[in-house]
Amino acid sequence: MPRIRNLVSVDDLSTAEILELFQRAKEYAKDLRAWSNVCRGRILASLFYEPSTRTRLSFESAMQRLGGGVLTAAEMSSSSAAKGESLADTVRVVSGAYADLIVLRHPSEGAARLAAEFALVPVVNAGDGSHEHPTQTLCDLYTLWIEKGRLEGLDVVLAGDLRYSRTIHSFVYALARFGANIVCVPHRGLELPEYVVRRLREEHGTEPVRADASDLGDLARESDAVYLTPNKPHQLSLFTDARVLRVDRVDAVYMTRAQTERHGDADMASRYMRLSQSAMSAAPLKEAIVMHPLPRRDEIAADLDDDPRSLYFTQAARGVPVRMAILAMLLGCLELSAEPVEHEERLFPVESGVNPCPNTNCITHTEKRHQRLGYKLTSRDPLRAACGYCAQEIPIGLVGCTTTRHFHPRDSAAARKIRPDHLVFFRDEQQALALGFSAATR
Ligand code: NCD
Repeated sequence: MPRIRNLVSVDDLSTAEILELFQRAKEYAKDLRAWSNVCRGRILASLFYEPSTRTRLSFESAMQRLGGGVLTAAEMSSSSAAKGESLADTVRVVSGAYADLIVLRHPSEGAARLAAEFALVPVVNAGDGSHEHPTQTLCDLYTLWIEKGRLEGLDVVLAGDLRYSRTIHSFVYALARFGANIVCVPHRGLELPEYVVRRLREEHGTEPVRADASDLGDLARESDAVYLTPNKPHQLSLFTDARVLRVDRVDAVYMTRAQTERHGDADMASRYMRLSQSAMSAAPLKEAIVMHPLPRRDEIAADLDDDPRSLYFTQAARGVPVRMAILAMLLGCLELSAEPVEHEERLFPVESGVNPCPNTNCITHTEKRHQRLGYKLTSRDPLRAACGYCAQEIPIGLVGCTTTRHFHPRDSAAARKIRPDHLVFFRDEQQALALGFSAATR
């Protein structure tokens, strides 16, 4: 049986596949009504545990344009979830006979990964908490690709709530893969999360460096920190004196909304940064396109709507052909010639009986009944691990071995020798002792 392909993270697609999907989307876009045989007879189920307009409707439109059918559970509060049904049970049922593919949006980080483990059909992550939103990223990249004619080496400003915007997290991983220079202009206190920066550094070789954003004028004025992460480390050597890079030319400004529902500061929107005609008059932004995943509140002034550089509504419209290509591929109705990603990342089981994930909004904490705990080993020396679901780093004080039942200092030679599937992570000695482990004698 061919393996089920899911789209949980943007890393589930190879770079060549992304480019081939874009070629296909461009074909679909020429006449959206001409493809009603591609997925005839297939059914998509939308399971939305959070509000959505564009993502759900563009997926459903895409499926119908491909000739398929759609089942919508857009308000999961009116479904059996309100009776306490677990996500795992829901996806098992829906993927049984009801649908051939599930599009899931959920407030907990890692929910799509968990759903994919239980579903019998492909699962598409339409946003899991503040973690990832890979199909939005494909729409965003597609817009860059169409407008700029390439994806390699672009200079992109990411502005606003970089901490909680899942669209930003998927987007930076993809931009880094294409060798973009990423200028982060966060709203004060809403910088990229540490686990995202670490992953950019470790997997994509990008290095956060202070950037001199004074040339960006109004846009960067309120921003606490501005970093530029060139993916070509040799560039840094040119600037090592000050470790400051100037931002003198930008291809795109990607603005994001304050994700107030995730950080609970409802008033933030009134103090939030704003992109307007005057901000866009700064010299490096003259040729930059303006993007936004939408919905916007006041972070993009209405005076920009008629500016030819503003592409946010076009970007939203392009969600349909892009999602048509994604659906056709995942449903096996479109065969790509591009090689898929080489291997799936291995998750090792967590054995200690204690969930080591520090993120209380991770699905491993919010859905306890069908909890499958797993971690990714991100580095052997120094020993580091991340939650297999929400990707946040696991704080490790001591490490134990499930066969010897001994614990060791994290950076000891003994700890490094333990097989990944025998590793146990402890916050401290007290926790290790409470779980029946004892200190190694040597
Ligand atoms: C985004 C989301 O849900 O993360 N919306 C979308 O899918 N276009 C952005 C947001 O809500 O700010």
